[in-house]
Amino acid sequence: MHRGAAIITGATRGIGRSVAETLGAKGYPIVGVARREEELASLEKDLRAGGVAVTTVAANLRDPEVATIVVERAVAAFGSVSVLVNNAAASPTFGPIAQMEPEAMDLVWAVNVRAPALLAARFASAPGDDKAIVNIASVGGLEPEPGIGLYNVSKAALIHLTRQLATELAPVRVNAVSPGLVRTSFAAVLVDALEAQLARSLPARRIGEPADVAAAVAFLVSDEARWITGANLVVDGGTLTIGRLGGP
Ligand SMILES: NC(=O)c1ccc[n+]([C@@H]2O[C@H](COP(=O)([O-])OP(=O)(O)OC[C@H]3O[C@@H](n4cnc5c(N)ncnc54)[C@H](OP(=O)(O)O)[C@@H]3O)[C@@H](O)[C@H]2O)c1
Repeated sequence: MHRGAAIITGATRGIGRSVAETLGAKGYPIVGVARREEELASLEKDLRAGGVAVTTVAANLRDPEVATIVVERAVAAFGSVSVLVNNAAASPTFGPIAQMEPEAMDLVWAVNVRAPALLAARFASAPGDDKAIVNIASVGGLEPEPGIGLYNVSKAALIHLTRQLATELAPVRVNAVSPGLVRTSFAAVLVDALEAQLARSLPARRIGEPADVAAAVAFLVSDEARWITGANLVVDGGTLTIGRLGGP
């Protein structure tokens, strides 16, 4: 079956890397976005070694023009687009919202909400059939939590953006995935602090691995999910069912 490109932001590490490997193995050509060129080169090398067609864009999603550049690159390289996974996020500070500098607040908004909105708009008007978008939100977008409050507000906004875009961009399907604590460099401090406790208290008896989230993304973009749009799939090992949050 012909597949258009799968654009994945933050494709070089953690959840995004696992999404790139999972969708690549399903036959999607991959367009990976991140800032660090050496990590993008490593992603390209590894995917090509597995027979996956891939191109990358080194860019900072803080910059609004990046959305157009990324979608144009995907169409130039692979002719059409099928999937957009808005995965990259910024959480520049830890502490109460009242102590955040305005510049850090602007960065959270630009990377976590504005970039997904701009990419979704450009993606929806690019060539391609049966298109699907998945936004990586967080359980923190559903429950307040100390220390990363404005990041959580941005994830709540991303969940609502998902619902809004599901109506505005239809028939493009737009869904969100909200992970609990997942073993990545982004969450390393929390993993170190909480893993042993969560292994006892979580219904799933372990924290998440990037592949747990990638599997949910692969389902939501697949034909099996053809009647699902505007949804937020919580992938958290039961974190919210016990009313406790494990991480970002
Ligand atoms: N890990 C968790 O426990 C957890 C829980 C809930 C939700 N999430 C969400 O899952 C998503 C992925 O998180 P992760 O834990 O996999 O993170 P990660 O391992 O730190 O990877 C982040 C990726 O995003 C890229 N990136 C970061 N800022 C960027 C920017 N401004 N422009 C372009 N690329 C950027 C990074 O590459 P460069 O640094 O080279 O740019 C990297 O590829 C995020 O949306 C996060 O909020 C994570």
